[in-house]
Amino acid sequence: MSLFIKKPLDQLLKMASDPSKGLKRTLGPGNLVALGIGAIIGAGLFVRTAAAAGEHAGAAVTLSFIFASIGCAFAGLCYAEFASMIPVAGSAYTYAYVTMGEFVAWVIGWALVLEYALGAATVSIAWSEFLNKLLGGAIPYEWCHSPFQKILDGDVMRYGIMNAPALIILLALSLLLIKGMQESAVFNTIIVIVKVAIVVTFIAVGWQFINPANHTPYLIPADAKPALLPDGSTYSYESIWDHGWFGVIAGAGVVFFAFIGFDAISTAAQESKNPKKDMPIGILGSLVICTILYILFSYVLTEVAPFTDFMLKGKEASVAYAIDAYMPGYHWLSTLVTVAILAGFSSVILVMLMGQSRVFYSMALDGLLPKVFSALHPKFRTPYKSNALLFVFVGLIATLLPGDITGDLTSIGTLFAFVLVCAGVLVMRKANPDAVRSFKTPWVPFVPIMGILVCSAMIIGLDSVTQLVAFIWLIIGLVVYFLYSKRNSLLRNPKVN
Ligand code: ALA
Repeated sequence: MSLFIKKPLDQLLKMASDPSKGLKRTLGPGNLVALGIGAIIGAGLFVRTAAAAGEHAGAAVTLSFIFASIGCAFAGLCYAEFASMIPVAGSAYTYAYVTMGEFVAWVIGWALVLEYALGAATVSIAWSEFLNKLLGGAIPYEWCHSPFQKILDGDVMRYGIMNAPALIILLALSLLLIKGMQESAVFNTIIVIVKVAIVVTFIAVGWQFINPANHTPYLIPADAKPALLPDGSTYSYESIWDHGWFGVIAGAGVVFFAFIGFDAISTAAQESKNPKKDMPIGILGSLVICTILYILFSYVLTEVAPFTDFMLKGKEASVAYAIDAYMPGYHWLSTLVTVAILAGFSSVILVMLMGQSRVFYSMALDGLLPKVFSALHPKFRTPYKSNALLFVFVGLIATLLPGDITGDLTSIGTLFAFVLVCAGVLVMRKANPDAVRSFKTPWVPFVPIMGILVCSAMIIGLDSVTQLVAFIWLIIGLVVYFLYSKRNSLLRNPKVN
């Protein structure tokens, strides 16, 4: 039987429309938009904006956000068509199963582990850093760093043992997800209100401290003076990717992380009350709101502080730094920002963990993963065993690995999924032209083709180590597919399960 055996669309739609079975439908359009914002605003905005400005784009980091948002908009329009047409929990994995067949679906499901599981791990590591910052460094170095990290403290070299706070936040959020989607959505909505309020407050207050000199010149000039780094060395802007328009594009690759998450809404399609109408609202609504906030936020941040500051003093807690250094009288805001960032990171982790368990749920229902991943709790109707196992897996990564290793892998897994979803829209329009689409991607084939091109360009722009590790992950996935999944696929062997 062909590797590219496809799942019939009718069969999927029938399964998804049976309200008596499966996941509980509790989410309305407001919850979905909040879920999107919950997953989107996080470490990307609060940590990577400053890095992109300081290293590549300077004050023009606002243009980097606009560039990255264009790529995401193309992909978002394609996601919205699929999510309204095939409202099931598997997201890109399921779309690929229907359009490009089982093998491609498996590959994309495997790549989504990089996005969701590693994304959750990355943000939980950042959460741990900010918690320690808020507590004034009270957590001993050994207990909030991985065994691969070390620091020279006076004459003594100190080594990390495990990242305990990351493990604790992952445990708390996994338990919340097990308890129920409704509870998780309420928690998420509260956090979203807090973090959006803080972002808006920063924009409004910061506007009064704008210094036009910081935007002149707007692009980093080719002959920019090297920036001083905390270890006393300097950072040169000579490379083509570190000044001018190419710097803006490199900055877009860095801030792309900030947009990851709008696609996670599609994994909640089976828990949405009216997915055909509400999925496009959730996906596109959250993307538009976050893009507007990002453009304003990055504009104000780089108008308030010169971008070179983000290479030295303001490198880590850049927003709190800019407030303390350039907005006299607003120290209270910098503490609030740190608290909001902690809350904001929690909702990103929550939605990533949810997304991963929902993709595994679909893969297990199809027989490509063991049934334990689709077992639902008798009372809460959540995939509780999957949430528990994922806690162990994500917890191990977050406890033992440093955050920089996991961050770019998250981006590559996501971009890969975006490319295949855009391609899927083209295939589906040909193969099933008459299927009911309550939302149609406009300007096909222009939008999907541009989505493929822009996202592929960002994959190529990522560093070669990330590309190599992602490739190794893919090879492991192929071994699992041929040894387990292909043999147990329900579509190939209807009698196995
Ligand atoms: N977009 C998410 C963040 O920035 C992953 O943390």
